[in-house]
Amino acid sequence: MNLKDINKEILECRKCPLEKTRNHVIVGEGPEDAPIMIIGEAPGRDEDFQGRPFVGKSGQLLDKILDACGFNRKEHVYISNILKCRPPGNRTPKPEEITVCKPWLMKQLELIDPKIIILLGATALKTLVGEEQRITRVRGEWLNWSGRPTMPVFHPSALLRNPELKRPTWEDYKKIVFKYRELVDSSHYSAHV
Ligand code: URA
Repeated sequence: MNLKDINKEILECRKCPLEKTRNHVIVGEGPEDAPIMIIGEAPGRDEDFQGRPFVGKSGQLLDKILDACGFNRKEHVYISNILKCRPPGNRTPKPEEITVCKPWLMKQLELIDPKIIILLGATALKTLVGEEQRITRVRGEWLNWSGRPTMPVFHPSALLRNPELKRPTWEDYKKIVFKYRELVDSSHYSAHV
């Protein structure tokens, strides 16, 4: 099985009631061998309309941050979510939705085999690392997911709600650029790091 096969299966998924309210299944986006995998929570309204991850306001901010790091969706990052379908009204994913959808993400992680993982916000952190984790406590600290350096950061929507979080979050992304130079490309260029 390769990533294309899995993503085709995900597109046809009818394992939970979100299949009734969705317009699109958002499988993810990026190169199959991306060195970095970014994991968000769930698609929002804009993503559900367009069928692509992180294209709304949060996504625009994420793209700006990635650009400042010298990263882009074509070469460096694969962006996916814990849930592949939008929860109505953008509510928080239900535990049973996460349980049903998580195996898709696990397959994507196995196939992409990223060197570095970025967890955007509490849902991604709790789902991958543990329910007891708190984003406010561990953001900016390297954690370990299946032997890979894993960096939890505030979700871009949190930065939009509270711009004071932008400065500490930039420090977290700088650590990711340093780690990328250490593990993937020592000559990686970033205008700001
Ligand atoms: N927020 C997320 O967590 N994921 C998206 O794809 C869009 C917004």
